[in-house]
Amino acid sequence: MNKIIIAAPAKINLTLDVKGKRADGYHELETIMHHVSLVDKITLTKGDNIIIESNSNLIPWDDRNLAYQAAQLYFKETRQEAGVKIFIEKNIPISAGLAGGSSNAAAVLIGLNNLYQGNLGPDKLWELACKLGSDVPFCLTNTTAMARGRGELLTPLPPLDKLHFLLVKPDFSISTREVFEKFDLKRVKRFPNNRVFLLAWQEYNIIKLANEMVNVLESVSLSLYPELDLIKSKLISSGALNAIMSGSGPTVFGLFTDLGKRDQAYYLCREIYSEVFKVSSYVRSE
Ligand code: C5P
Repeated sequence: MNKIIIAAPAKINLTLDVKGKRADGYHELETIMHHVSLVDKITLTKGDNIIIESNSNLIPWDDRNLAYQAAQLYFKETRQEAGVKIFIEKNIPISAGLAGGSSNAAAVLIGLNNLYQGNLGPDKLWELACKLGSDVPFCLTNTTAMARGRGELLTPLPPLDKLHFLLVKPDFSISTREVFEKFDLKRVKRFPNNRVFLLAWQEYNIIKLANEMVNVLESVSLSLYPELDLIKSKLISSGALNAIMSGSGPTVFGLFTDLGKRDQAYYLCREIYSEVFKVSSYVRSE
């Protein structure tokens, strides 16, 4: 085998709670992460050096790219003097709170393990993923998961029928680092109740699920960018059961059960924003 294609789906955070600041400077999280069907396509072709190419010039085509770093780490770990050409077909918006870069890096780890038969087990891949970034371990998985610690300690949730969302990414990006730096527990209006969320998940009670969708990082991002509040209101008045920001933003997503209403919301949002996506829960098939 000379070449492999791997799907790299975006993630959204159905809940996101910050429990406090840790000694290592990171924040202790408790968040429910979910894969959605907005997917980058990663093509890996065997070669002598690590090369990044893409249909997008918004991402770096060199070692600043997390996908490049993933390949470097993989070859170091498996002690292989090898290279790979990584072609990233970018569909996930950049710096959007959707873990696009992390998902690309996870796809490179999975793909190289197949292509180069490195035979790294799940624990080793998870270890490498942790070195690359807080969201990368989740991106290796195929399930919805509760993530704790920096985001790397994962407890899978049982599978659920597909949920349907509308994602709206406004025309600006937000730095995750900045949002965490400005985060202040005292300014949070509502904290998620993950126990209630998990009960609703088990019961497949979508109304209850929607009501428990809460992201404490909105306390920072919405005050920096009040426009995000307008997007939330627009989605809810268009028929979303609820709408919250994903990760540190700026993408906002609405949860819909009425797909006709989601279509209407899509056209309404498309009048203002160029990056609007109808997505559903995603399960990796390869
Ligand atoms: O791990 P990653 O590089 O994706 O995180 C980006 C930045 O987000 C970190 O440098 C840190 O400032 C912040 N962060 C945090 N606590 C987390 C995850 C990320 O403070 N659990």
